[in-house]
Amino acid sequence: MRYRLTRLVACITLLSFVFSTQAQTQQTPAVSRIKIDTDRTIGEVHPLLFGNFAEHLGRMIYGGIYEEGSPLSDQFGYRKDVFNVVKDLNVSILRWPGGNFASGYNWTDGIGPKDQRPTRIDLAWNDLESNRFGTDEFLKYCEMLGTEPYICLNLGLGTVDDARHWVEYTNESRHTYWADQRRKNGREEPYKVKYWALGNEIDGPWQLGNKSAEEYSKLALETAKAMKLVDRDIKLVASGSSNYGADWIAWNRTVVNTLRNQIDYIAIHTYVNNSQNDFERFMAWSSTIDNYIEVTAALIRQAQSGQQNPRPIYVAYDEWNVWYRTGNREKLEEVYNFEDALAMGMFFNSFFRHANVVKMANIAQMVNVIAPIMTNKQGLYLQTTYFPLVEYGKQRGNTALDTFVSAPTYKVPNRQTEYKYLDVSSTLNTKDQTLYINVLNRSKDKDLATKIENQAGQISGDVAVWEMNNTDLKATNSFADDKKVRPTTKTITPKIENNSFSYTFPAHSLTILKVKMR
Ligand code: AHR
Repeated sequence: MRYRLTRLVACITLLSFVFSTQAQTQQTPAVSRIKIDTDRTIGEVHPLLFGNFAEHLGRMIYGGIYEEGSPLSDQFGYRKDVFNVVKDLNVSILRWPGGNFASGYNWTDGIGPKDQRPTRIDLAWNDLESNRFGTDEFLKYCEMLGTEPYICLNLGLGTVDDARHWVEYTNESRHTYWADQRRKNGREEPYKVKYWALGNEIDGPWQLGNKSAEEYSKLALETAKAMKLVDRDIKLVASGSSNYGADWIAWNRTVVNTLRNQIDYIAIHTYVNNSQNDFERFMAWSSTIDNYIEVTAALIRQAQSGQQNPRPIYVAYDEWNVWYRTGNREKLEEVYNFEDALAMGMFFNSFFRHANVVKMANIAQMVNVIAPIMTNKQGLYLQTTYFPLVEYGKQRGNTALDTFVSAPTYKVPNRQTEYKYLDVSSTLNTKDQTLYINVLNRSKDKDLATKIENQAGQISGDVAVWEMNNTDLKATNSFADDKKVRPTTKTITPKIENNSFSYTFPAHSLTILKVKMR
């Protein structure tokens, strides 16, 4: 009898353990919270945040988007296979011709009959420049793509006259010397190029024509005045500091103070790296990006304060990416892995969190050179970083929301900061009432069960899930296998209780949840 009773007790204990374990696996208690309030808006996710950059560097132009004589190219020399995947990226604005290259570039070398154009030494990248791809080839490419062109002027070794003549060549409709040169080169109608950068990284000692903040600001001011007298509808981007080892804040302060009545944007550049081979530390770069934006925004505000009717000035993040493995010797042909794809989410989350300030962004660069697309003579493959660019791009025009996040935190060596494991942004498409929740789980090994709570409006229906995840942080795509790192999609029907639902974000993953609102 006693023996039977003991067995019964043992059985009950075992059964209750089995049931409780099952219950736990089915419903892991949420350790994190994301609170959405569609009334708490930040600003428009500006379409120009989905820009790109094409520099005369390595195989970006020649052998990238342009390869005369290739069976893969059209009659003008544009690679058709590359064009198709660039088209799918839906690039809103394309920066050209550099970068560092711009500071030694004479734009007049790149116009007129191709066979008469001079070959020059490109001092920035120690290469030869044939000039067979110039202003007309670039602007035609933008028109074919339906992309806004964005020209970076030479404010390194160039002059005010070079700049104003370039605007006259592209934008003037009357019969002037440079407008008629354009006509002679086959283009009657002005291109109406709206976006112009007043030089590139002029604070960098590596830059041709490197200047002090005062020297640069004076030249940029005179250039801006002259260009606007040619075309007052243009928008100008000042060269912000990219030399973070030096006093970048003082540079940006002088630039915005001097140019506050002329410029529309100030540029920021950031290349992140995982040279310590520490995933969570790599993902912590997002707070540096946040910091660059917030400090620059504060400098803009101080320059505007006291002015009766200050000119709006925004941040153009016109070079950003992961870059640390390759240099000029490898022509910056960085092969991206799975964790680099997650860094794309880190940048976009930061841009969206500052959507009231960041109104343009250009990933550097588009093809072969630190790029999402790699080519050879026979074809191309898509790198891991390509896919988040396409997916985040679908949020252009949405309204960015101020999102509350509570999550376990972590620290990285030699820093005081506590980083939340979840790096989040969210946006609302007000036309079709779709809510996008962009979540980067920066934990290397912890899945994070999260309660997603909604404050205004009612969550309804299924949730579409886009996810980038891989067991191998270092997995790459290649010509031989370009399917190794790809996103997955699924639709879930979460249990909605009190306008909330639960979702577990897997360790080291990037997830976009699309939620319908009523
Ligand atoms: O994108 C590569 C180079 O990085 C650009 O030419 C320069 O602006 C930056 O330093």
